[in-house]
Amino acid sequence: MSTSQNRVVPSFRVELSSDEIDEVLSSVEQVMRSGQLILGPYSALFESEFAKSVGADCAVTVNSGSSALEIVARCVGVKDREVLVPVNTNFATAAAVIAAGAKPVFYDGGLFPDLSDIERRLTEQTAMLIVVHVGGYLSPDLSALQDLCRRHGIFFLEDAAHAHYSSIGEKRAGIFGDAAAFSFYPTKVITTGEGGMIVTNDSKLAALSRQFRDQGKDSSGLIHVVMGNSWRITEMGAALGLVQLRSLARDTDYRRGVINYYEQQLRNNPLISFPAEPSDLTTSGYKCIALLRPGFSRKEVTARILDLGVQLGRPVYEVPLHRQPVFQEWVDSAFPIADDFCDRHICLPLWRSIPPEDQQAVVNAFNTLAERWEAA
Ligand SMILES: Cc1ncc(COP(=O)(O)O)c(C=O)c1O
Repeated sequence: MSTSQNRVVPSFRVELSSDEIDEVLSSVEQVMRSGQLILGPYSALFESEFAKSVGADCAVTVNSGSSALEIVARCVGVKDREVLVPVNTNFATAAAVIAAGAKPVFYDGGLFPDLSDIERRLTEQTAMLIVVHVGGYLSPDLSALQDLCRRHGIFFLEDAAHAHYSSIGEKRAGIFGDAAAFSFYPTKVITTGEGGMIVTNDSKLAALSRQFRDQGKDSSGLIHVVMGNSWRITEMGAALGLVQLRSLARDTDYRRGVINYYEQQLRNNPLISFPAEPSDLTTSGYKCIALLRPGFSRKEVTARILDLGVQLGRPVYEVPLHRQPVFQEWVDSAFPIADDFCDRHICLPLWRSIPPEDQQAVVNAFNTLAERWEAA
């Protein structure tokens, strides 16, 4: 805890307005009274509204981003094949393909995937490429990656866990790939407590995903035709997600505004720089990422900024997958781009309603820290 300030600006808060809480409570009451706790009207509406928000034909609710990834991997049929997975991602991205019976082939990348490393690691056995929109930032190479997958007949899966409403021009995250997996974990742009969504334009893939999420049952509900699981979202979760979906455009604009403010105010700060983004490319505002300039350690900056009343967010990611014990059997090389990015970036406080005084406090703390560093 801070020693020199009374209040610490938190890195993130789950924040719903009173009106939103009232609306969710009333929906939950309706769900309870209806007796239909899963696969009901709230899930169906959440799916159609979410598909609309992405600009895709189909969306399928599931109980987590992890199961969204695994279901798509199972639908594609990656068993005994190779799947290209970035090392700079969450455990779930690799765990899903391993659970689906594939071999993860790790590739390098920091904020963005390294296209040349992906090309180098392609083989006859490659069935699928997963690209993660880290922190909600979209790679400028997405259309090159689409082309690569088309040319080689590889399924392109976007791990869009961080990227609700990220866009390039008019195109939103979720429609660059053959399918996308979103997460509604509590820290995400929209939360349902636990939850996820598969988005695709392929109605057959959507129908198969619905079978997988419901124990692999066919339409009779009696016969298990694929090796699925209990991967359904609850109606209460869907009702919670729907409320936030309605304000997603406004919230995204707000978070982007906060990122612009930090970038403007801190552009001459000697401690950090911000990643360059092409002008037609907009982030979801899941994270505000800054890079520490050479010579500054994240551990020290994090501790000293906390002492000035600001808690930094969890990096994306601090320990990449090639440094995780559980994945060692699939690690066959060094990943220098990921190592550099993972060691050197920080995430500034950001949530859907971070107040202006907290944003100002963040800027002041970075400026004070820079002055003290220079004076030392
Ligand atoms: C990039 C990424 N993919 C997948 C997941 C898994 O999502 P969930 O926690 O909803 O299972 C996460 C983490 O939450 C994530 O950050």
